[in-house]
Amino acid sequence: MKFAKISILLFSALFISCSKNSTVQNSISSPDGNVKIEFNLSENGEPSYKVSFKENEVIKTSKMGFDLKELPSLNKDFKIVNSKTSSFNETWKMPWGEQADVVNNYNEIKFDLEETSELKRKISIVFKVYNDGLGFRYEFTKQENLSEVFITDENTEFNLTGDHKVWWIPGDWDIYEHLYSATKFSEIDALAKAEHVNLAQTSIPENAVNTPVTMKTDKGLYLSFHEASLVDYSGMTLKVDTDNFGMVSELVGSDNNDYKVKRTTPFETPWRTIQISENAGDLIESKLIVNLNEPNKLDDISWFKPTKYTGIWWEMHLGKSSWDLASGKHGATTKNTKAFIDFSAKNNIGAVLVEGWNTGWEHWIGFEDREGVFDFVTPYSDYDLKEVVRYGKEKGVEIIMHHETSAATQTYEKQQDTAYALMQSLGIHSVKTGYVGKILPKGEYHHGQYMVNQYNNAVIKAAKYQVAINAHEPIKATGLRRTYPNTISREGLRGQEFNAWASDGGNPPNHLPTVAFTSMLSGPIDYTPGIFDIKFDKWKKDNQVNTTIAQQLALYVVIYSPVQMAADLIENYEGNPALQFIKDVAVDWQTSKVLDGEVGEFVTIARKDKNSENWFVGGITNEEGRETEIVFDFLNENTTYEAIIYEDAADAHWDNNPTALNIVNKEITNQSKMKLKLAPGGGFAISLIKK
Ligand code: NOJ
Ligand code: CA
Repeated sequence: MKFAKISILLFSALFISCSKNSTVQNSISSPDGNVKIEFNLSENGEPSYKVSFKENEVIKTSKMGFDLKELPSLNKDFKIVNSKTSSFNETWKMPWGEQADVVNNYNEIKFDLEETSELKRKISIVFKVYNDGLGFRYEFTKQENLSEVFITDENTEFNLTGDHKVWWIPGDWDIYEHLYSATKFSEIDALAKAEHVNLAQTSIPENAVNTPVTMKTDKGLYLSFHEASLVDYSGMTLKVDTDNFGMVSELVGSDNNDYKVKRTTPFETPWRTIQISENAGDLIESKLIVNLNEPNKLDDISWFKPTKYTGIWWEMHLGKSSWDLASGKHGATTKNTKAFIDFSAKNNIGAVLVEGWNTGWEHWIGFEDREGVFDFVTPYSDYDLKEVVRYGKEKGVEIIMHHETSAATQTYEKQQDTAYALMQSLGIHSVKTGYVGKILPKGEYHHGQYMVNQYNNAVIKAAKYQVAINAHEPIKATGLRRTYPNTISREGLRGQEFNAWASDGGNPPNHLPTVAFTSMLSGPIDYTPGIFDIKFDKWKKDNQVNTTIAQQLALYVVIYSPVQMAADLIENYEGNPALQFIKDVAVDWQTSKVLDGEVGEFVTIARKDKNSENWFVGGITNEEGRETEIVFDFLNENTTYEAIIYEDAADAHWDNNPTALNIVNKEITNQSKMKLKLAPGGGFAISLIKK
């Protein structure tokens, strides 16, 4: 038997019998020793792992394996032919992000397994163990008896140690735009909770949840389950066994195939990830998901700059204007766009999104025959694309392109080169894409392998034309922004738009304090904050935003994205002193600190601008009002900052009095402390401008 050289690591190691006369190390710990995984083979050669944190079990023995089409399952009769450990420590730079430098420090153990049965198929399992959790994946090497692989099911278990509290959305194969439920694990009922009255498509075949799914144990430990580097594979939902507190991977399928994933060896699966922390805020600070992705593959990304943007967008969702010309109230006109450019130029906002600029919107939704409707290059007659781009350049404002595909994927695929080339020729460097409706070809789902490849290929192709993508109705983020930084942002949750039209009352005040600890762990979110006209009675009497205006400001800090929208109608900003915060706030960060927070309740985050010495702090709360104290010890020593504090007025309330805001100026140093009151559904935002 051959053994690879085992590097010497500072942790206590366990050993497992490997063949009659030898043993191999079968456990490994994180660099700080707190997180530990142990790998085992059962008597009949079934692989399993378990995880502990500070000597307490957090994942009980959990099996691993695959069901394959027309072949025996890959889940037993294995022997370990080799095991190898290594350690890694690097610091890499984010081109833009929550922080400039990211430490990537882990210990790794890899097991090469081979079947003892006739087929002798091989599979390797690699674990990377970090201080903030772990990731593991399966590697399929090139081999004679396993070439084309049709995976009908991946059966990776995550067996929990108790009936944890869970923040979850249903394991929908088509959309993540569901409200979070907070229940005990034993009470997860995704099929019953699949509220989909407002969704253009949905498919929830199992009692399963989507990831990231976050939990809190009775002992106060936080766990979040997700995946990293989802490439050429199906998205993973987690099927729950509410009696035994067990979860097992349930891959998204396709009605067109009798398998869920098709690959040719060699290949590897995405990383299955578990983030572990003793306080909720550390989950947000964890960089495990990006760390598990490959380094930047793009040579030059200097063409994209993080930016705030306004847009011809909210007015459509309010019904003030429409995407289509035939409606008689077309929003994307040259004149309207110029007004947005003027407003943006005046208010330190670098870009304008224009939706509804291209022909086809008369036939975009509610039709089966959506292929061939949009071409992404032909503007409506009242929109002079070249002229708005020219005018924008004159004012220092870039246009953000919009490609609504209406999920007609083949049309988009065919048009991409032409569409991105047009953008490049105009010097437009970002596009918001959309995939509303049931996927065409029929039978595919937004989160299956076919679509995972669509989304990833679009990003790779766009990079060639110096185009960055902010995808709506996307596949969830899995940290690929590290490899392809032009993956700038995405929707993938119930965004602000639901407040404009959802018949269930929109996003309740606990939505964003939950999102920050769940969905946001996957990556940047295009939530589109900044609605000042909270009730918008002029347009929609039965809908409203369910936060105070102070919370709308706080979101620029709390919800991270390198493109951050000032989403309201420009007339609602004019003359409002709160606009100063949007003007001042940065969009790219040197460092980020979660000062306090509890899942679903509240969160306070401080971020330092990457391009100045200024800091910004944002805090949000659910329907409970609360008081918080900020200790400014994170600021530079011997420095005075001019703070502008935007806080809920004493009588503010998300429903009764949402626009009651106090704006206070103060001098702050790193010795300062400040008590702040957050109204029910409220928040606060602070700019700290270095004097
Ligand atoms: C859904 C997107 O989330 C929304 O932002 C957009 O306005 C519409 N699709 C139209 O593309
Ligand atoms: Ca959407």
